[in-house]
Amino acid sequence: MSLQHLDVLVIGAGAAGLMCALNAGYRGRSVAVVDMGKKPGRKIIISGGGRCNFTNQNANPDNYLCQNPHFVKSALSRYTQYDFIDMVERHGVEYHHKTLGQLFCDNSAHDIVEMLMTECGWAGVQVKMQSEVVKVAKVDDGFIVTTSGKDYHCQSLVVASGGLTMPKLGATPIGYKLAEQFGLTVLPTCAALVPFTLHDQDKQRFDGLSGISVDSVVSSESGVVFRENILFTHRGLSGPAILQISSFWKAGEWVSINLLPDEKVYDKLQSLRQEAPQRALKTALSHMLPKRFIERLYQAGELPEKNLNQLSNSDCQSLHDYFHDWKIKPNGTEGYRTAEVTLGGVDTDELSSKTMESKKVSGLYFIGEVTDVTGWLGGYNFQWSWSSGWAAGQVV
Ligand code: FDA
Repeated sequence: MSLQHLDVLVIGAGAAGLMCALNAGYRGRSVAVVDMGKKPGRKIIISGGGRCNFTNQNANPDNYLCQNPHFVKSALSRYTQYDFIDMVERHGVEYHHKTLGQLFCDNSAHDIVEMLMTECGWAGVQVKMQSEVVKVAKVDDGFIVTTSGKDYHCQSLVVASGGLTMPKLGATPIGYKLAEQFGLTVLPTCAALVPFTLHDQDKQRFDGLSGISVDSVVSSESGVVFRENILFTHRGLSGPAILQISSFWKAGEWVSINLLPDEKVYDKLQSLRQEAPQRALKTALSHMLPKRFIERLYQAGELPEKNLNQLSNSDCQSLHDYFHDWKIKPNGTEGYRTAEVTLGGVDTDELSSKTMESKKVSGLYFIGEVTDVTGWLGGYNFQWSWSSGWAAGQVV
């Protein structure tokens, strides 16, 4: 089989790989990107409900989980959200701010892929689809990479093969396997930004609530707090607040949900008791939270069948505690099938935070989701792909 010589070979035509490739190409390096999929940027295309939440105006190192929290600082500060927004604007991609600093395409996530592919074209990068990497060998002057198409010899090898989420979209463990092959530590992985599944009794308790969403403050046992919506689904609990907290949740732990973060339930019930003493508690609560939800809690026998004037102070306190600290113990998560990202991955202690190069193997780089860097929900994960891809692109 023929052997193509390159300066740089990038594994993975996703967000990180394309960003790295185009930057290396502009530096005059000969660059190819290989990817097993039919089309580049498949996760970009499905992201953000098809509109790609491509970055977050507030992105900063505090929005990332990583065993070494300092690791992300260098790349995020040298290629920021504003650098990416500049590129988006130069290409005339229209976008809008949705909420909490999240930026989405007005039209379609395809605009972002088209922009990256256009830049790759300008930078002279070859993008080879339907090329699965099957083997990598180290040689004196670089690496030999065997793909299902052809073999490559490269000086720098960049692993941008992503995590394990959405196996349907071509997620493979190749990045972790390559890290291990070269003696790098890979930290245990698990699904993150992922809906919770419930134990059977909770599934019955919430049967029929699918589609109901409640603005809540959700806290993990470790004390991490997010305020966004929770959403009841056929399978369990989802919604942005639940996805966020899932990254901090460990099997067997509770999550606490404040279902009425803008009220003080005790005070509210006291004043309602004065205003409308004959009103049923159920009716009063149905004005504060979705009616179907309150009905379900009554059917489950969790709330007293009383009028407001029958409530004692201690009843008001119990209801206050119940709604402000509604506890759920998830059965598990939906796993990689529906998760947005993979927690864990290539240990960042193995990599230079400036270049993403392996400290042990010169010329070997890891960028994007394959590294032990996981962003919050809200465009932070793409920003890590852009920043880490850019950082490697300056030096490969
Ligand atoms: P990515 O997974 O994008 O790319 C890796 C590439 O490597 C793939 O194209 C794959 O085919 C290829 N590959 C794997 N093994 C290979 C092999 N053996 N040979 C050749 N190629 C191989 N983030 C965000 O910031 N905003 C958002 O709106 C969303 N939305 C979202 C929705 C959904 C449904 C998911 C699943 C994820 C998101 N994300 C997100 C997360 C975001 O998509 C993710 O963090 C980035 O795509 C990671 O980019 P990478 O380039 O690291 O990997």
